[in-house]
Amino acid sequence: MKAKGGLLLAALGVLALPLSAVADAPSPTVLANTCFSCHGTDGKSAGAMPSLAGKSASEIAQRLREFRADERENTVMGRIAKGFSDAEIEALAAQLGSK
Ligand code: HEC
Repeated sequence: MKAKGGLLLAALGVLALPLSAVADAPSPTVLANTCFSCHGTDGKSAGAMPSLAGKSASEIAQRLREFRADERENTVMGRIAKGFSDAEIEALAAQLGSK
């Protein structure tokens, strides 16, 4: 039963992705989805990870640039941030930042 539930959730997750996500450049939605496993769905973290919810877009972009440049102490964010271009950081921040 447990495995079935997991499969259903996985299937729902795939269905929830916009169709455009399958082709060309990763959309901000797809990029942001990669953050939720640690920072919680909608950026509200339940565990030891800092929450992204409530942070402004400019703060998130600033942090990501600092992580990327190793200017900010981190365990994993440096590696993650290095994968993003400036344009992708801006798109992520706009997507995740509190409006
Ligand atoms: C593997 C788990 C993991 C993933 C995936 C992840 N983060 Fe993080 N994030 C962390 C941890 C842990 C920290 C605390 C700094 C550190 O130790 O790296 C952090 C810190 C941050 C901070 C600074 C928060 C603060 O209060 O200073 C921001 C902003 C952030 N992450 C954004 C993101 C974004 C955007 C993504 C998706 C592209 C992402 N993170 C994906 C684990 C993760």
